[in-house]
Amino acid sequence: MRIFSGIQPTGRKHLGNYIGAITQYVAGQDRGEAIYCIVDLHATTVPYDPVELRERMYDTTAVLLAAGLDPERCVLFRQGDVAEHTELCWLLCSVTAFGDLNRMHQFKEKAGAQRELVSAGLFFYPVLQAADVLLYRAHEVPVGDDQRQHVELMRDIAERFNSRFGETLVVPEHRIPDVGARIMDLQEPERKMATTGGTPQGTVYVLDDPKTIEKKVRSAVTDSGSDVVRAPDKPGISNLVEVLAVVRGIAPEEVEREFAGQGYGAFKAAVAEAVVEYLRPVRERYEQLRPDQAALEAALAAGAEKARAIAVPTLADVREAMGVGAPR
Ligand code: TYM
Repeated sequence: MRIFSGIQPTGRKHLGNYIGAITQYVAGQDRGEAIYCIVDLHATTVPYDPVELRERMYDTTAVLLAAGLDPERCVLFRQGDVAEHTELCWLLCSVTAFGDLNRMHQFKEKAGAQRELVSAGLFFYPVLQAADVLLYRAHEVPVGDDQRQHVELMRDIAERFNSRFGETLVVPEHRIPDVGARIMDLQEPERKMATTGGTPQGTVYVLDDPKTIEKKVRSAVTDSGSDVVRAPDKPGISNLVEVLAVVRGIAPEEVEREFAGQGYGAFKAAVAEAVVEYLRPVRERYEQLRPDQAALEAALAAGAEKARAIAVPTLADVREAMGVGAPR
């Protein structure tokens, strides 16, 4: 089984990315042939600084390695190193419905947030994401809940391609965790934790120091009750229950049982401590890995070689099926 996922090199990675996606990437290495891509081309669809993009690329690479991705057991590479992604994106445009792209939640959200240019790149973002996955004929795509619609779209694109041009692409399935697929902002628990648009105090970064994490968790917004249980009218507590469950590797029900009758103060203190200990080794490894940029660059280059070996034959099959370029 082949697993593929992508992550943006923008901003700093937060607890939502870590719980919803990165832990799944690490587990994927034991479950199949795992391929992970840091998507610099996607990052160019909103205003950005080129120098900073390169820095963030190394930051993200170091975070992923620190979290436990092992270049011996997975393929970790930079999207912009494998030109086949952009060509496949264009070819897939012919089997992508304009109306579907217009209905993408993330496009609407991101387009609404732009003050100057709403780039065409933002509109085509999901087609490039489809190309990322389909190029590797991946079966499974581990993501958080916010990527559900993008994975649906890539399935439609692959199906339409296969019925128009013959069986060529694998129709992938999403893998969204049951718990932790949508970690919410600690200050505004009705919205998801996010790099852009989230509150600074409500966003726990993977690289935050222990004091900062503790402060953010202890000041998390909760309701006026005192029961540690998940409920629709308790988004703040529900979120913290899920966080603690994932961090401890237990079911949310167990968390609720353990903290029954204990009140929010003790509960939040336990969540804070657990999150600090959960992220501590990642931050420490990150600090060792990040300064050696040459080693990070070498790891990405080696990953790109391996990625290309899979991508090139797929693209050749797609070109052949579509009658594009010289015949084989
Ligand atoms: P990105 O970089 O925004 O997010 C990376 C992963 O983190 C998950 N995530 C969350 N999970 C739980 N709670 C949250 N609050 C939360 N916020 C983010 C996301 O679901 C994602 O899995 N479009 C993708 C990148 C991409 C991609 C791909 C993904 C490009 N090509 C191909 C899969 C396959 C994105 O913006 O990720």
